Amino acid sequence: MNINNLRPAVGAGCKVHIETYGCQMNFADSEVVLAILQKEGYIYTEDIAQAEVILVNTCSIRDNAEQRIWGRLNEFRRYKRARKGLIVGIIGCMAERLKERLLDEEMVNVVAGPDAFRDLPHLIRMAREGQKGINTKLSREETYAEISPVRLDKNGVTAFVSIMRGCNNMCAYCVVPYTRGAERSRDWQTIVHEVEELFAAGYREVTLLGQNVNSYKCGEVGFPELMAKVAEVSPLLRVRFSTSHPKDMSDELLQVIAAYPNICRAIHLPAQSGSSRMLALMNRKYTREWYLGRIEAIRKYIPDCAITTDLIAGFCTETEEDHQMTLSLMREVGYASAFMFHYSERPNTYSARHLADDVSPEEKIRRLNEIIALQNELSLESNRRDVGGEFEILLEGTSKRSDDKMFGRTSQNKVVIIDRRYHRVGDYVRVRVTDCSSATLMGQEIE
Ligand code: 5AD
Ligand code: SF4
Repeated sequence: MNINNLRPAVGAGCKVHIETYGCQMNFADSEVVLAILQKEGYIYTEDIAQAEVILVNTCSIRDNAEQRIWGRLNEFRRYKRARKGLIVGIIGCMAERLKERLLDEEMVNVVAGPDAFRDLPHLIRMAREGQKGINTKLSREETYAEISPVRLDKNGVTAFVSIMRGCNNMCAYCVVPYTRGAERSRDWQTIVHEVEELFAAGYREVTLLGQNVNSYKCGEVGFPELMAKVAEVSPLLRVRFSTSHPKDMSDELLQVIAAYPNICRAIHLPAQSGSSRMLALMNRKYTREWYLGRIEAIRKYIPDCAITTDLIAGFCTETEEDHQMTLSLMREVGYASAFMFHYSERPNTYSARHLADDVSPEEKIRRLNEIIALQNELSLESNRRDVGGEFEILLEGTSKRSDDKMFGRTSQNKVVIIDRRYHRVGDYVRVRVTDCSSATLMGQEIE
């Protein structure tokens, strides 16, 4: 008899709740964490009030992300008082960055960095025995390659697939290389296998995730080859990816995207700034001209591609002239949408150590507001160009505003609202766009 069969799984029947903050990568990580815990007998509960273990998957990218999470942790004190034995774990980027401070918080029982998730069953067991469970070791190898994530986002149609971890780019402002460690790629075979399983389970769209997917490398397989392999799983499966660094956006990748109709016509290409002086200070390794050259290449190979971006307002020493360069870049590219932030100094990054955070908070916010106002105009213009056009959308769910409407996305990643009629989530529907706002398109099915 195998004695292990007599040992109950570590977490047998124990209810765990996971709360996730931050980027898509964090959401994908929470699904890996759940897979690890389920294997040990833990049961997921959506209801935090039922949970015996609460894990908070955290984000450190900007100060306000961390502040929000600290606020939330304060609320957990109440749960702790009400429920004896409740275990609270901080996992992910904040765990990595703030291990010492979190160690001192009597309220926190478990601290696990992004490469320590496999250790969570052990760390939770330590906490249950009254000790703190801590592991913030970063790894050069860990990719959680063979773990099949347990999907927490339950639309059953779209899923994230993590293809690499960490980042080597060392942008001056960014904390990610410190919290997530060095870049490493997951074996392509396990990626394709996961995608095949998702398709067989009814999923119709995957987003390949990494901090810089263009530098994916697994033996002879680079990102363009990986994209082709994933696109070949089925022509009925849409493929997206996020996020790309402009310095590595190769023609070869653009040719692969153009060659497969099921690879979506949407590229997120974070510019961060339109001023070459700022880009050099940010250590982005490209100039405004290089960036615009990449935009031109996208337009040449994939004329119907939507381009989106990330922008930072008020980085160290940014002048009004630099700021105007960002606004002019935005006009020149005509982004479909953008994520826009004001610079937030992160401890220990290159810019925190060596550059002056000398744009006043008021000025940062003024510049950011100008950027946001311009982007609203550009998004509206981009959407207006789609009115009258024909698109295929993949339905993802019921519209927030009305049960009689559903929403789906175009290949360009724009949301379209249509009448529900006989449609179901996961259907592809051909629509004509009839109207728009800056955020959404309205459509009508083409019969
Ligand atoms: N301050 C403001 N924005 C930042 N980002 C990353 N680090 C910072 C920071 N310190 C933004 C960048 C990046 C996105 C994920 O977050 O635009 O592309
Ligand atoms: Fe941060 Fe730059 Fe890496 Fe993106 S590419 S995670 S901005 S260091």
